[in-house]
Amino acid sequence: LVAGVDTSTQSCKIVVRDAETGRLVRSGSAKHPDGTSIDPQHWWDAFRTAAQEAGGLDDVAAIAVGGQQHGLVALDAEGRVIRDAILWNDTRSAPAAEDLVRELGDGDRATGAQAWADAVGSVLVASLTVTKLRWLRDAEPENAARVAAVALPHDWLTWRIAGYGPEGESPLGPRLDALVTDRSDASGTGYYDAEGADGAGEYRRDLLRLALGRDDVILPRVLGPAESGGVAHASVAGSGVDGGALIGPGTGDNAGASLGLGMEPGDIAVSIGTSGVVSAVAPRRTADGTGAINGFADATGNALMLAVTLNAARVLDAARAVLGVDVDELARLALAAPAGADGLVLVPYLEGERTPNRPDATGTLHGIRLATSTREHLARAYVEGMLCGLADGLDALRSQGVPVQRVMLIGGAAQSPAVQQVAAQVLGTPVSIPEPGEYVADGAARQAAWVLATTHDAGAPAPAWSTTVTTTLDADPRPVVREQYAAVRDIVDPG
Ligand code: XUL
Repeated sequence: LVAGVDTSTQSCKIVVRDAETGRLVRSGSAKHPDGTSIDPQHWWDAFRTAAQEAGGLDDVAAIAVGGQQHGLVALDAEGRVIRDAILWNDTRSAPAAEDLVRELGDGDRATGAQAWADAVGSVLVASLTVTKLRWLRDAEPENAARVAAVALPHDWLTWRIAGYGPEGESPLGPRLDALVTDRSDASGTGYYDAEGADGAGEYRRDLLRLALGRDDVILPRVLGPAESGGVAHASVAGSGVDGGALIGPGTGDNAGASLGLGMEPGDIAVSIGTSGVVSAVAPRRTADGTGAINGFADATGNALMLAVTLNAARVLDAARAVLGVDVDELARLALAAPAGADGLVLVPYLEGERTPNRPDATGTLHGIRLATSTREHLARAYVEGMLCGLADGLDALRSQGVPVQRVMLIGGAAQSPAVQQVAAQVLGTPVSIPEPGEYVADGAARQAAWVLATTHDAGAPAPAWSTTVTTTLDADPRPVVREQYAAVRDIVDPG
């Protein structure tokens, strides 16, 4: 058996699967406080609770952790967390991101943006870790001075699972040099070039120094896709007799989902969660100086091209709150209005936006007339606006030359018939709905099985676990929806 963990913005989920077939054996989950900054201790507590709920992890032979990307977990020399982790969805470092972009361009924004894209695959926005380090340097210099190591959420949890942590709170103590990570999550820091050093990947300590003013911090060792990062402490995972379970390198959540879905070039995943993510696997990243596309790494040695919006499932939550309805009723209302909602358009930047990079934007509802002042029109406009934001992301991927053959719609909202139907109308491609699953945790479990397989056969491929597609919708283009959305978007956000 192997275990896959998803330490996400809101909860910890664990799946225990058969290492050979991928059959789901047990699972558990536990919520923890969410928001934009949090004490990582909550992740550890939620992991322990989820592990208990999954019936314990004594019988697993390998474990890997997928996690929310980018969050800054700053550790002092004693392995203590210096301050609450600042997460991917925290926009306080937006001015720092702008400063860093201009600095790398010797004062010129466009030059700097292209320089970051060339160096690390992404133009900086507030989500990326390096901008949070600059913010720390400027806003909390005493904390910045204490930073001895910088980890990401999945690295930190992996380290705790291996038994490391502050003295008195962990069996093995604060061995900062035991921190490990993987290419995918490292590629979202802004100071790691996944394709540098002739493809082997390398930290860009010069960029870390630019942000923090020094680079004498310990960074997690970057492991290869199926390389083991040691063993879990036997009190956490694995049998106490033979020692702990093997630990995989783990992954960023988006790379975890793509591994869990078994994505191949040509496949696109559109994930509607707290963030909206449009992602594609490609042999190599491109360097998009406009910043629409992040050129991250995946968990298998390829690139993972991503467009991320901050306005996804929560837009639908907002619609439900306004209308006072549940998920099913929202879908029913939306489907009762015509495509295009008779010109009622929502530009859904309800909490700022990341793609396009508008951290301070607000949403706009446009085209309200007597005839469109109905619950049905409003529901439709919210669903369409949210998906048009994601369709813009898909277009940005296309413009980078990424092949788009089929879209897999995932995340809780993907089960909504209204979301499915509107997706087929605005994405311009067939839409597949895989069986609902914990794709990030599944991807981590698949990675754990891969690590285990390589103990017998060094070159073993990732195990071939299959994903079941429950529904496939043909593309059903309704150009009016995109056109009227683009017109309103361009009025409220001329760029
Ligand atoms: C990716 C990103 C989000 C988080 C969500 O760049 O910021 O998808 O990983 O957990």
